[in-house]
Amino acid sequence: MKRLTTMLCAAQVCWAAMAGAAPLSITLPPETAVFKSSGLPGYPLAQQKCSTCHSADYINFQPPGMTLAQWTAEASKMQQVYGAPISDQDVNTIGAYLAVTYGSAQASDAEVQAGSNPPPAPAAKGDAMALLQNHGCLSCHAIDHKVVGPAYHDVAARYGSGPQALTRMAASIEHGSSGKWGEMPMPPFAQLSAQELQTLTTFILHQ
Ligand code: HEC
Ligand code: HEC
Repeated sequence: MKRLTTMLCAAQVCWAAMAGAAPLSITLPPETAVFKSSGLPGYPLAQQKCSTCHSADYINFQPPGMTLAQWTAEASKMQQVYGAPISDQDVNTIGAYLAVTYGSAQASDAEVQAGSNPPPAPAAKGDAMALLQNHGCLSCHAIDHKVVGPAYHDVAARYGSGPQALTRMAASIEHGSSGKWGEMPMPPFAQLSAQELQTLTTFILHQ
């Protein structure tokens, strides 16, 4: 009898502990902790360079209606005061994205256009763009919206950064793909060299 009581107590303690712990283990990050998506070049830059020290909440909690000058000053402060590793061009590009997406600026503003202009493409990116153009990829794909094929941004999101991602994506480009995104199949590009496939997949995975 004594033994039975002990067992029951132990079981109750166990339940109590589980009930207490369960809500903690299923807490999901709030929606606001991600950057709002945009076709502006500052969006990927902000994702890459503004989430290393704090979450996107810091951006969400700024007052609404901030101007291009205010958002650019904010990005500049991160660079100058807190040592964020971003170039002067990044400051302008990210400032333009933030001002349009969170503030009062319009994507069509001349200053936004000027600020958004990405810096001269680095060699690797230039190579990838040239390949995309020369092989007609861009007649069916865009970076940030579906054309005939899926947006590269969506492809990158689906593939993630796992070790298999590069190899699997390269196989899809080389041999073609069907049934993964819709009715239209993707034609094979068997003529691409291993090096070219590597350049393309690396680029696409970073969109
Ligand atoms: C090197 C680390 C670092 C990086 C990278 C960084 N920040 Fe910050 N950020 C800080 C610090 C430190 C604060 C202020 C600390 C605090 O109040 O917790 C801050 C605060 C902020 C705030 C709140 C308002 C303010 O001025 O305090 C905003 C908005 C912000 N950051 C935006 C950005 C943006 C946009 C980027 C990308 C361009 C960025 N941060 C990148 C360190 C960084
Ligand atoms: C004629 C139109 C067309 C062209 C040209 C084209 N694609 Fe596609 N692509 C598609 C379609 C349609 C899909 C979706 C296929 C599916 O549903 O599986 C796709 C899918 C993809 C995917 C995702 C595959 C997966 O496994 O999820 C990648 C990566 C891709 N294309 C890259 C490229 C590259 C790189 C080129 C140029 C070398 C290119 N595409 C040229 C139409 C095209």
